[in-house]
Amino acid sequence: MNAMGNSHLLLVFSLFLSFSFTSSVRLTLHEDSSLSVGNADDVLTSNDGVFSAGFFPIGQNAYCFAIWFSEPSCTIPDCTVVWMANRDEPVNGRSSKLSLRKNGDLQLIDTGGAVVWSSKTGSSSRSSTNLQLLNTGNLVLRDDKHATLWQSFDSPTNTLLPEQKLIPSTPLISSRSKNNFSSGYYILYFDNDNLLHLLFSGPKIKSVYWPDPWLNSWEAGRTTYNDSRVAVLDHYGNFISSDNLTFLTADYGAKIQRRLTVDHDGNLRVYSRPDGGEWTVSWQANPDPCTAHGICGPNSLCTYHPSEGRSCICAPGYEWENLYDWTQGCKPKFNSFCDSKVKTEFVELPHSDFYGYDKGFFPNYTLEMCKKLCLDLCNCLGFQYKFTNCYPKLLLLNGHYSPGVDGGIHFKLPKFNLSSYYLPKIEHATLQCPAKEIMLHWTYPKRPENSKVETLLIFTGATAGWEAIMVLMVWCFLYKTRPETGGAHIEGYCAGPTGFRRFTYDELKKATWNFSKEIGRGSGGVVYKAVLLDCRVAAVKQLNAANQGENEFLAEMSTIGNLHHMNLIDMWGYCAEGKHRLLIYEFMEHGSLAENLSSPTELDWSKRFEIAIGSARGLAYLHEECLEWVLHCDVKPQNILLDSTYQPKVADFGLSKILRREDLMNSSFSKIRGTRGYMAPEWIYNCPITSKVDVYSYGIVLLEMVTGRSPTGEHDKIKGGHAQEKKILTSWVREKKRLSVPKQTWIEEIVDPRLRGEYDLKKIEILVEVALKCVDEDRDTRPTMRQVVEMLQCCEDEDV
Ligand SMILES: *[C@@H]1O[C@H](CO)[C@@H](O)[C@H](O)[C@H]1NC(C)=O
Ligand SMILES: *[C@@H]1O[C@H](CO)[C@@H](O)[C@H](O)[C@H]1NC(C)=O
Ligand SMILES: *[C@@H]1O[C@H](CO)[C@@H](O)[C@H](O)[C@H]1NC(C)=O
Ligand SMILES: *[C@@H]1O[C@H](CO)[C@@H](O)[C@H](O)[C@H]1NC(C)=O
Ligand SMILES: *[C@@H]1O[C@H](CO)[C@@H](O)[C@H](O)[C@H]1NC(C)=O
Ligand SMILES: *[C@@H]1O[C@H](CO)[C@@H](O)[C@H](O)[C@H]1NC(C)=O
Ligand SMILES: *[C@@H]1O[C@H](CO)[C@@H](O)[C@H](O)[C@H]1NC(C)=O
Ligand SMILES: *[C@@H]1O[C@H](CO)[C@@H](O)[C@H](O)[C@H]1NC(C)=O
Repeated sequence: MNAMGNSHLLLVFSLFLSFSFTSSVRLTLHEDSSLSVGNADDVLTSNDGVFSAGFFPIGQNAYCFAIWFSEPSCTIPDCTVVWMANRDEPVNGRSSKLSLRKNGDLQLIDTGGAVVWSSKTGSSSRSSTNLQLLNTGNLVLRDDKHATLWQSFDSPTNTLLPEQKLIPSTPLISSRSKNNFSSGYYILYFDNDNLLHLLFSGPKIKSVYWPDPWLNSWEAGRTTYNDSRVAVLDHYGNFISSDNLTFLTADYGAKIQRRLTVDHDGNLRVYSRPDGGEWTVSWQANPDPCTAHGICGPNSLCTYHPSEGRSCICAPGYEWENLYDWTQGCKPKFNSFCDSKVKTEFVELPHSDFYGYDKGFFPNYTLEMCKKLCLDLCNCLGFQYKFTNCYPKLLLLNGHYSPGVDGGIHFKLPKFNLSSYYLPKIEHATLQCPAKEIMLHWTYPKRPENSKVETLLIFTGATAGWEAIMVLMVWCFLYKTRPETGGAHIEGYCAGPTGFRRFTYDELKKATWNFSKEIGRGSGGVVYKAVLLDCRVAAVKQLNAANQGENEFLAEMSTIGNLHHMNLIDMWGYCAEGKHRLLIYEFMEHGSLAENLSSPTELDWSKRFEIAIGSARGLAYLHEECLEWVLHCDVKPQNILLDSTYQPKVADFGLSKILRREDLMNSSFSKIRGTRGYMAPEWIYNCPITSKVDVYSYGIVLLEMVTGRSPTGEHDKIKGGHAQEKKILTSWVREKKRLSVPKQTWIEEIVDPRLRGEYDLKKIEILVEVALKCVDEDRDTRPTMRQVVEMLQCCEDEDV
């Protein structure tokens, strides 16, 4: 109470001072002078009086050095702020100051003497520097030769003023909330695709939501071809961006006050203010406020009623994590499906959608097939079913519930308590808002006088909170790129994944720490580990083949980039720059099947069966469901990768088309692709190559998984023709089968001894039977991959 009274007194006193002693406004801050906090007169004003720069209170005893609109006149906390130097680290209300040092450095100094912010322009050779606030609202530091050393237009916070250029190094970052000026979660920035995007960059998830991620750049009216990456709004209300986003504000034409702001609700708006009037929205990026991601947390959906505004609801079967903070989302009322064997049922919520986090995309599925798919995946939380396409969801994020949304989400819920999760509850919940956005107040301790130790303690306490925020915000940056010492990922935040795209060589050089972490060498290139700007861990393959034309390469890329299946490795992008050709894939935690088959920690039997059927599905998709030409031509355990749950993903498909012919011939076998031991006889006898070559190789992989023997390993000693060499493993198995009469005996003899007899005999039989069909010398006798999947699937089902 006392403190409040004091500060009011101080304010009145300083107002009195300014009336009685000063009639002139301060236009320039000269070197070796400063502006102090708590002195209302200590502000810089632009020539025309429209803008002021000084200490701005953002809470009790907490100040930021800011620029605000001072014309039409306003009282301090209500003025419209356009820039802040230290939004994430406010200073104390006593003896903090902004100093222009003799060496030309502009420093913001807190009570204890700590430099909280600096323009970093200090140099011994500087003299006569001065700071001025221009009529545009730009705070400019110049030297005696009138050269600009630093300007506030180069480091915007959440607002872009007319004539201020938005460029890649200066993203706009929203405030946290209406009353909290610290850095928030929404970012307007130019991405590497040359487009201006809005990104939600929350503590846990990041995603781009504008332009609409479902649209191609041209469908959104943008172009990726202009790499100048610059956008600017003029005084008349005309916005022009190099990505062809142009618009005129609703009140275009008059030269009035305007600003472009990324608001704390995730929308991008232009505000205008006619002389003496109020701010009005004259343009906004998204008419529906639910378009912004991250408004409602996990497992909840955003709804909007023009009269009632925006609110969040929990998905059926979920309840609020924190009733007073929607962004924390909802938690399930049931246990994870992965821990228990509960029977489940699906409940559909029409007109709903969750963006992203699909376990692949499954075209041509019936509703029943889609249900089965989701049932079989224990971590599937539900699915979206749209025009015979099935999208199983592993996370329910960025939910949207609106009559305008086509289709609905089928939520997977325990059958047992189904009625208690039923839908009417949701409908009811939409009518009322269970939670309101909370407004917190600053608690910034006032400095006791003459106590340096206490000052230090208080300062530490106050900044600790901010440190926590900063840690959260840059967690990805610091944590995931720690090995890098400077340089990489300059922006310090993670851009949202922007789908399949082109990468620059420099970007990949940084992401791979100068290609220092080799994780494998395969056909046509070396593979490196990488961490992308959006924090995804990736595998980058540098192809040897450098002479292929760029257009040819791009054509192949567009095909491969469109192949999505849960058993195919996902390709995220490529790089074609000069001689460099690189492919960027998702990173697989458990490496390849080859590494794991030979490692001492064995893959158990059920994992091996899952891997067999999964990789068959991936190959079947390549052969039939997409384009016949996507032959793999190099199926082997090194190219079957395992994710964190040991789900197999086939890698290196499509490479046979990309790699230069000469490179492929550069092996010990002329004119042959693939790997010794896994190649079908067609290659040797110069027969036409069809998808059956992959079937053959797959058969060898199956035999290898069952027997644990390498097709070129122990039995490779016999010298001779290639055909003979390749027959080793297959003929060994065939012989065992022929010689031993009781089935069980010969199976036992061939099975990998590392399984220690723990296996399902019936399944092994089927696996070996399928394998032997696959490795038939006559390619027409071999089954197709689709038939292989069916044969294995029927065996899988026997258990159920
Ligand atoms: C790229 O954008 C800039 C800025 O908008 C513009 O000046 C330039 O003409 C554009 N270039 C092309 C090739 O369109
Ligand atoms: C830019 O957008 C206009 C329409 O607003 C369109 O006519 C033009 O073709 C676009 N330019 C490019 C390069 O996409
Ligand atoms: C079923 O719902 C009731 C109340 O709706 C709850 O008390 C009970 O714990 C639920 N049972 C299970 C197994 O979730
Ligand atoms: C402002 O937002 C930051 C970041 O979310 C938060 O940590 C801080 O507590 C907020 N401050 C106030 C006064 O609400
Ligand atoms: C990467 O290489 C460049 C020069 O090619 C070098 O300047 C940089 O320090 C290197 N970075 C790392 C992490 O090795
Ligand atoms: C599979 O291989 C990876 C990489 O070598 C290894 O980290 C993992 O432990 C192996 N897993 C098994 C079950 O052998
Ligand atoms: C997918 O559906 C189309 C049209 O119904 C059909 O022609 C095609 O054969 C189907 N493809 C597969 C692989 O089922
Ligand atoms: C191809 O083989 C030749 C000699 O056998 C070797 O010098 C060259 O480096 C090889 N090229 C590639 C891409 O492996």
